[in-house]
Amino acid sequence: MQQFTPAPAQLRKSERWGINLNHWYVVARSSEVKSAPLGLTLWHQAIVLFRDQAGQIQAIEDRCLHRQVKLSHGKVVGDQLECSYHGWCFNGSGACVAVPYLSECQKLPSAQLKGYPVREQDGFVWLFPGEPSLSDSVPLLGLPEWDHLNYIATVSLIDCKAHYSFLMENLMDMYHGHLHQDYQAWADPVLQDLEESPERVDAHYQAQSYYKIDKIWSISQLFFPALRQLHPEPLDVSYIYPHWVATLGEDFKICCLLCPISETATRAYLIHFTSLNAFDKLHKLPIGFRRFLKTRLFGSAQRILDGLVQQDVQMIEEEQQAYLQNPERQSHELNRTVTSVQRLIRQQVRQH
Ligand code: FES
Ligand SMILES: [Fe+2]
Repeated sequence: MQQFTPAPAQLRKSERWGINLNHWYVVARSSEVKSAPLGLTLWHQAIVLFRDQAGQIQAIEDRCLHRQVKLSHGKVVGDQLECSYHGWCFNGSGACVAVPYLSECQKLPSAQLKGYPVREQDGFVWLFPGEPSLSDSVPLLGLPEWDHLNYIATVSLIDCKAHYSFLMENLMDMYHGHLHQDYQAWADPVLQDLEESPERVDAHYQAQSYYKIDKIWSISQLFFPALRQLHPEPLDVSYIYPHWVATLGEDFKICCLLCPISETATRAYLIHFTSLNAFDKLHKLPIGFRRFLKTRLFGSAQRILDGLVQQDVQMIEEEQQAYLQNPERQSHELNRTVTSVQRLIRQQVRQH
Protein backbone atom coordinates (compact mmCIF):
# COMPACT_ATOMS: atom_id res chain seq x y z
CA MET A 1 0.00 0.00 0.00
CA GLN A 2 1.23 3.46 -0.89
CA GLN A 3 2.55 5.62 1.95
CA PHE A 4 0.87 8.95 2.55
CA THR A 5 3.33 11.75 1.78
CA PRO A 6 2.49 15.35 0.98
CA ALA A 7 3.74 16.58 -2.40
CA PRO A 8 7.34 17.68 -1.88
CA ALA A 9 7.38 20.65 -4.21
CA GLN A 10 4.10 22.42 -4.70
CA LEU A 11 4.07 25.35 -7.03
CA ARG A 12 4.63 28.60 -5.28
CA LYS A 13 2.26 31.39 -6.21
CA SER A 14 4.59 33.19 -8.61
CA GLU A 15 5.57 29.93 -10.29
CA ARG A 16 2.05 28.74 -10.87
CA TRP A 17 0.96 31.66 -12.92
CA GLY A 18 3.18 31.87 -16.00
CA ILE A 19 3.30 30.21 -19.41
CA ASN A 20 6.07 29.58 -21.91
CA LEU A 21 4.99 31.66 -24.92
CA ASN A 22 7.33 29.87 -27.31
CA HIS A 23 4.89 27.10 -28.17
CA TRP A 24 2.00 26.59 -30.56
CA TYR A 25 -1.31 27.14 -28.80
CA VAL A 26 -4.72 26.24 -30.18
CA VAL A 27 -6.91 29.32 -30.43
CA ALA A 28 -9.91 28.15 -32.48
CA ARG A 29 -11.38 25.38 -34.54
CA SER A 30 -10.86 25.91 -38.27
CA SER A 31 -14.61 25.92 -38.76
CA GLU A 32 -14.97 28.89 -36.38
CA VAL A 33 -13.01 31.19 -38.70
CA LYS A 34 -15.47 32.04 -41.44
CA SER A 35 -15.86 35.25 -43.43
CA ALA A 36 -16.12 37.49 -40.35
CA PRO A 37 -13.11 38.27 -38.13
CA LEU A 38 -12.82 36.30 -34.91
CA GLY A 39 -11.53 37.96 -31.72
CA LEU A 40 -9.92 35.93 -28.94
CA THR A 41 -7.53 36.23 -26.02
CA LEU A 42 -4.39 34.18 -25.59
CA TRP A 43 -2.54 34.84 -22.36
CA HIS A 44 -3.64 38.50 -22.02
CA GLN A 45 -3.07 39.23 -25.70
CA ALA A 46 -6.14 40.28 -27.66
CA ILE A 47 -5.81 38.75 -31.12
CA VAL A 48 -8.01 38.79 -34.21
CA LEU A 49 -8.12 36.01 -36.80
CA PHE A 50 -9.39 36.50 -40.33
CA ARG A 51 -9.27 34.69 -43.65
CA ASP A 52 -7.74 36.46 -46.64
CA GLN A 53 -8.99 36.03 -50.21
CA ALA A 54 -6.95 32.85 -50.63
CA GLY A 55 -8.59 31.36 -47.52
CA GLN A 56 -5.38 31.66 -45.50
CA ILE A 57 -5.85 32.57 -41.85
CA GLN A 58 -4.05 35.72 -40.67
CA ALA A 59 -3.56 36.72 -37.02
CA ILE A 60 -2.81 40.23 -35.77
CA GLU A 61 -3.32 42.27 -32.62
CA ASP A 62 -7.00 42.98 -32.04
CA ARG A 63 -6.82 46.78 -31.81
CA CYS A 64 -6.99 49.58 -34.28
CA LEU A 65 -3.92 51.81 -34.42
CA HIS A 66 -6.18 54.83 -34.66
CA ARG A 67 -8.29 54.75 -31.47
CA GLN A 68 -7.50 51.29 -30.07
CA VAL A 69 -10.99 49.84 -30.63
CA LYS A 70 -11.31 46.15 -31.51
CA LEU A 71 -10.61 45.26 -35.12
CA SER A 72 -12.60 42.07 -34.62
CA HIS A 73 -15.73 44.25 -34.72
CA GLY A 74 -14.83 45.31 -38.25
CA LYS A 75 -15.04 43.34 -41.48
CA VAL A 76 -12.81 41.57 -43.95
CA VAL A 77 -12.40 43.36 -47.28
CA GLY A 78 -10.30 41.38 -49.74
CA ASP A 79 -7.03 40.63 -47.98
CA GLN A 80 -7.53 43.34 -45.40
CA LEU A 81 -9.32 43.92 -42.15
CA GLU A 82 -11.34 47.12 -42.06
CA CYS A 83 -11.99 48.86 -38.73
CA SER A 84 -15.66 49.53 -38.07
CA TYR A 85 -15.07 53.05 -36.68
CA HIS A 86 -13.39 55.14 -39.41
CA GLY A 87 -12.54 52.42 -41.91
CA TRP A 88 -8.78 52.20 -41.56
CA CYS A 89 -7.55 48.98 -43.18
CA PHE A 90 -4.84 46.56 -42.01
CA ASN A 91 -3.13 43.68 -43.79
CA GLY A 92 -2.22 40.27 -42.37
CA SER A 93 1.16 41.55 -41.18
CA GLY A 94 -0.50 44.26 -39.10
CA ALA A 95 0.44 47.22 -41.32
CA CYS A 96 -2.07 49.99 -41.92
CA VAL A 97 -2.54 49.98 -45.69
CA ALA A 98 -5.46 52.36 -46.23
CA VAL A 99 -7.23 55.28 -44.57
CA PRO A 100 -10.37 56.33 -46.48
CA TYR A 101 -9.95 60.07 -45.82
CA LEU A 102 -6.17 60.35 -46.18
CA SER A 103 -5.31 63.61 -47.96
CA GLU A 104 -2.53 63.89 -50.49
CA CYS A 105 -0.19 65.57 -48.05
CA GLN A 106 -0.72 62.96 -45.34
CA LYS A 107 1.09 59.63 -44.94
CA LEU A 108 -0.18 56.32 -43.66
CA PRO A 109 0.95 55.66 -40.08
CA SER A 110 4.24 53.81 -40.03
CA ALA A 111 3.54 52.05 -36.72
CA GLN A 112 2.48 48.46 -37.10
CA LEU A 113 0.33 46.02 -35.17
CA LYS A 114 1.89 42.81 -33.99
CA GLY A 115 1.39 39.89 -36.37
CA TYR A 116 1.51 36.28 -35.19
CA PRO A 117 2.68 33.07 -36.89
CA VAL A 118 -0.50 31.05 -37.41
CA ARG A 119 -1.22 27.68 -39.00
CA GLU A 120 -4.27 25.65 -39.78
CA GLN A 121 -3.76 21.96 -39.19
CA ASP A 122 -5.88 18.95 -38.23
CA GLY A 123 -9.08 20.97 -37.91
CA PHE A 124 -7.65 23.62 -35.56
CA VAL A 125 -5.96 27.02 -35.69
CA TRP A 126 -2.51 26.99 -34.04
CA LEU A 127 -0.89 30.26 -33.04
CA PHE A 128 2.64 31.03 -31.82
CA PRO A 129 2.54 33.96 -29.36
CA GLY A 130 6.27 33.99 -28.55
CA GLU A 131 9.34 35.04 -30.50
CA PRO A 132 8.22 34.66 -34.16
CA SER A 133 11.67 33.61 -35.41
CA LEU A 134 11.47 30.49 -33.20
CA SER A 135 8.15 29.30 -34.55
CA ASP A 136 9.61 27.13 -37.34
CA SER A 137 11.80 25.23 -34.90
CA VAL A 138 8.94 24.31 -32.54
CA PRO A 139 6.79 21.38 -33.73
CA LEU A 140 3.00 21.37 -33.63
CA LEU A 141 1.32 18.53 -31.79
CA GLY A 142 0.02 16.34 -34.62
CA LEU A 143 -3.54 15.05 -34.62
CA PRO A 144 -3.39 12.51 -37.49
CA GLU A 145 -6.71 10.93 -36.48
CA TRP A 146 -8.56 14.14 -37.35
CA ASP A 147 -8.54 13.43 -41.08
CA HIS A 148 -8.05 9.66 -40.89
CA LEU A 149 -11.15 7.80 -42.10
CA ASN A 150 -10.88 5.19 -39.33
CA TYR A 151 -11.50 7.68 -36.52
CA ILE A 152 -14.68 9.42 -35.43
CA ALA A 153 -14.08 12.67 -33.58
CA THR A 154 -16.06 14.46 -30.90
CA VAL A 155 -15.04 17.91 -29.68
CA SER A 156 -16.01 19.51 -26.41
CA LEU A 157 -15.05 23.05 -25.39
CA ILE A 158 -13.55 23.55 -21.95
CA ASP A 159 -14.15 27.09 -20.75
CA CYS A 160 -13.14 27.43 -17.13
CA LYS A 161 -12.41 30.19 -14.68
CA ALA A 162 -9.16 28.69 -13.50
CA HIS A 163 -5.48 28.66 -14.28
CA TYR A 164 -4.43 26.00 -16.80
CA SER A 165 -2.23 24.23 -14.24
CA PHE A 166 -5.35 23.04 -12.39
CA LEU A 167 -6.68 21.59 -15.64
CA MET A 168 -3.42 19.80 -16.42
CA GLU A 169 -3.18 18.39 -12.91
CA ASN A 170 -6.73 17.09 -13.33
CA LEU A 171 -5.99 15.50 -16.71
CA MET A 172 -2.80 13.77 -15.59
CA ASP A 173 -4.25 12.41 -12.35
CA MET A 174 -6.23 9.36 -13.44
CA TYR A 175 -7.32 8.67 -9.87
CA HIS A 176 -10.04 11.28 -10.26
CA GLY A 177 -12.25 8.79 -12.18
CA HIS A 178 -14.12 8.69 -8.87
CA LEU A 179 -15.75 11.94 -9.98
CA HIS A 180 -17.02 10.60 -13.30
CA GLN A 181 -18.49 7.20 -12.37
CA ASP A 182 -20.46 5.94 -15.40
CA TYR A 183 -19.03 8.55 -17.75
CA GLN A 184 -15.53 7.17 -17.34
CA ALA A 185 -13.99 4.83 -19.93
CA TRP A 186 -11.85 3.03 -17.37
CA ALA A 187 -11.74 1.89 -13.77
CA ASP A 188 -9.13 1.01 -11.14
CA PRO A 189 -6.10 2.84 -12.58
CA VAL A 190 -2.75 2.12 -10.93
CA LEU A 191 0.25 4.28 -11.72
CA GLN A 192 3.05 2.01 -12.94
CA ASP A 193 5.66 4.30 -14.36
CA LEU A 194 6.40 7.98 -14.72
CA GLU A 195 8.87 9.67 -17.07
CA GLU A 196 9.87 13.31 -17.08
CA SER A 197 11.82 15.44 -19.51
CA PRO A 198 12.06 19.23 -19.96
CA GLU A 199 9.28 19.05 -22.59
CA ARG A 200 6.88 16.43 -21.28
CA VAL A 201 5.59 14.14 -18.57
CA ASP A 202 4.49 10.61 -19.47
CA ALA A 203 2.49 8.67 -16.91
CA HIS A 204 1.75 5.00 -17.52
CA TYR A 205 -1.18 3.52 -15.65
CA GLN A 206 -2.63 0.04 -15.79
CA ALA A 207 -6.41 0.21 -15.78
CA GLN A 208 -9.57 -1.78 -16.34
CA SER A 209 -11.25 -0.65 -19.53
CA TYR A 210 -14.74 -1.23 -20.81
CA TYR A 211 -13.82 0.28 -24.10
CA LYS A 212 -13.35 -2.37 -26.76
CA ILE A 213 -14.66 -1.44 -30.17
CA ASP A 214 -14.36 -4.77 -31.98
CA LYS A 215 -17.97 -5.40 -33.02
CA ILE A 216 -20.45 -2.89 -34.29
CA TRP A 217 -22.68 -3.34 -31.23
CA SER A 218 -19.74 -2.68 -28.90
CA ILE A 219 -20.12 1.03 -29.54
CA SER A 220 -23.25 0.79 -27.38
CA GLN A 221 -20.94 0.28 -24.38
CA LEU A 222 -20.40 4.00 -24.57
CA PHE A 223 -24.04 4.61 -23.73
CA PHE A 224 -25.09 1.62 -21.59
CA PRO A 225 -22.86 0.87 -18.61
CA ALA A 226 -24.56 -2.51 -18.10
CA LEU A 227 -23.03 -3.79 -21.37
CA ARG A 228 -19.49 -3.03 -20.32
CA GLN A 229 -17.03 -5.83 -19.76
CA LEU A 230 -13.97 -4.72 -17.95
CA HIS A 231 -10.63 -5.93 -19.22
CA PRO A 232 -7.09 -4.73 -18.45
CA GLU A 233 -5.57 -2.12 -20.74
CA PRO A 234 -2.62 0.25 -20.50
CA LEU A 235 -3.68 3.84 -19.90
CA ASP A 236 -0.96 6.25 -21.03
CA VAL A 237 -1.32 9.95 -20.40
CA SER A 238 1.14 12.57 -21.55
CA TYR A 239 1.50 16.26 -20.82
CA ILE A 240 3.36 17.39 -23.93
CA TYR A 241 3.69 21.02 -22.97
CA PRO A 242 1.36 22.82 -23.43
CA HIS A 243 -1.09 20.11 -24.58
CA TRP A 244 -2.25 16.72 -23.30
CA VAL A 245 -2.83 13.32 -24.92
CA ALA A 246 -4.18 10.06 -23.49
CA THR A 247 -4.60 6.60 -24.96
CA LEU A 248 -6.42 3.64 -23.44
CA GLY A 249 -5.45 0.45 -25.21
CA GLU A 250 -5.73 0.66 -28.98
CA ASP A 251 -9.26 1.93 -29.44
CA PHE A 252 -9.30 5.08 -27.40
CA LYS A 253 -7.56 8.41 -27.77
CA ILE A 254 -8.34 11.75 -26.25
CA CYS A 255 -6.47 15.06 -26.48
CA CYS A 256 -6.70 18.42 -24.81
CA LEU A 257 -5.48 21.40 -26.85
CA LEU A 258 -4.78 24.40 -24.68
CA CYS A 259 -5.50 28.12 -24.99
CA PRO A 260 -4.59 29.79 -21.65
CA ILE A 261 -6.29 33.16 -21.33
CA SER A 262 -5.11 34.55 -18.00
CA GLU A 263 -4.15 33.54 -14.46
CA THR A 264 -7.78 32.67 -13.77
CA ALA A 265 -9.23 31.68 -17.15
CA THR A 266 -8.50 28.84 -19.56
CA ARG A 267 -10.02 27.63 -22.78
CA ALA A 268 -9.21 24.25 -24.23
CA TYR A 269 -10.58 21.81 -26.77
CA LEU A 270 -11.09 18.23 -25.65
CA ILE A 271 -11.12 15.87 -28.63
CA HIS A 272 -12.14 12.25 -28.36
CA PHE A 273 -11.49 9.76 -31.16
CA THR A 274 -13.45 6.54 -31.53
CA SER A 275 -11.45 4.02 -33.55
CA LEU A 276 -13.03 1.99 -36.34
CA ASN A 277 -9.78 0.12 -36.95
CA ALA A 278 -11.29 -3.24 -36.04
CA PHE A 279 -13.90 -3.15 -38.83
CA ASP A 280 -12.07 -4.66 -41.81
CA LYS A 281 -15.14 -4.78 -44.03
CA LEU A 282 -15.71 -1.08 -43.54
CA HIS A 283 -12.23 -0.30 -44.83
CA LYS A 284 -13.04 -1.96 -48.17
CA LEU A 285 -15.99 0.32 -48.82
CA PRO A 286 -15.62 3.30 -51.20
CA ILE A 287 -13.72 6.27 -49.78
CA GLY A 288 -16.70 8.57 -50.38
CA PHE A 289 -18.95 6.42 -48.22
CA ARG A 290 -16.35 6.20 -45.45
CA ARG A 291 -15.97 9.96 -45.51
CA PHE A 292 -19.74 10.33 -45.36
CA LEU A 293 -19.84 7.99 -42.37
CA LYS A 294 -17.05 9.87 -40.61
CA THR A 295 -18.89 13.15 -41.10
CA ARG A 296 -22.26 11.75 -40.04
CA LEU A 297 -20.86 10.17 -36.90
CA PHE A 298 -18.89 13.28 -35.89
CA GLY A 299 -19.88 14.21 -32.34
CA SER A 300 -21.34 10.80 -31.48
CA ALA A 301 -19.74 10.90 -28.01
CA GLN A 302 -20.88 14.48 -27.38
CA ARG A 303 -23.11 13.82 -24.40
CA ILE A 304 -20.44 11.82 -22.57
CA LEU A 305 -17.63 14.24 -23.36
CA ASP A 306 -19.65 17.30 -22.35
CA GLY A 307 -20.69 15.53 -19.14
CA LEU A 308 -17.06 14.79 -18.25
CA VAL A 309 -16.06 18.37 -18.97
CA GLN A 310 -18.83 19.78 -16.82
CA GLN A 311 -17.83 17.64 -13.84
CA ASP A 312 -14.13 18.46 -14.22
CA VAL A 313 -14.69 22.20 -14.70
CA GLN A 314 -16.66 22.42 -11.48
CA MET A 315 -13.81 20.83 -9.51
CA ILE A 316 -11.11 22.89 -11.24
CA GLU A 317 -12.95 26.16 -10.60
CA GLU A 318 -13.44 25.23 -6.95
CA GLU A 319 -9.71 24.53 -6.65
CA GLN A 320 -8.96 27.93 -8.16
CA GLN A 321 -11.30 29.71 -5.77
CA ALA A 322 -9.90 27.85 -2.77
CA TYR A 323 -6.39 28.74 -3.87
CA LEU A 324 -7.21 32.44 -4.25
CA GLN A 325 -8.89 32.56 -0.87
CA ASN A 326 -6.14 30.69 0.99
CA PRO A 327 -2.99 30.53 -1.13
CA GLU A 328 -0.88 29.49 1.86
CA ARG A 329 -2.86 26.28 2.42
CA GLN A 330 -0.87 23.17 1.61
CA SER A 331 -2.62 20.53 -0.49
CA HIS A 332 -1.84 16.89 0.18
CA GLU A 333 -0.98 14.92 -2.91
CA LEU A 334 -0.51 11.17 -3.30
CA ASN A 335 -0.10 10.96 -7.07
CA ARG A 336 3.46 11.60 -8.23
CA THR A 337 2.27 12.75 -11.66
CA VAL A 338 0.85 15.94 -10.15
CA THR A 339 4.24 16.88 -8.76
CA SER A 340 5.80 16.15 -12.16
CA VAL A 341 3.22 18.35 -13.88
CA GLN A 342 4.08 21.19 -11.52
CA ARG A 343 7.80 20.70 -12.12
CA LEU A 344 7.31 20.79 -15.90
CA ILE A 345 5.26 24.00 -15.68
CA ARG A 346 7.91 25.60 -13.50
CA GLN A 347 10.68 24.64 -15.93
CA GLN A 348 8.75 25.84 -18.97
CA VAL A 349 7.87 29.17 -17.36
CA ARG A 350 11.51 29.70 -16.41
CA GLN A 351 12.61 28.96 -20.00
CA HIS A 352 10.74 31.94 -21.27
S1 FES B 1 -10.67 53.62 -34.51
FE1 FES B 1 -10.27 52.31 -36.14
S2 FES B 1 -10.47 53.57 -37.84
FE2 FES B 1 -10.74 54.91 -36.20
FE1 LIG C 1 -11.96 14.18 -15.64
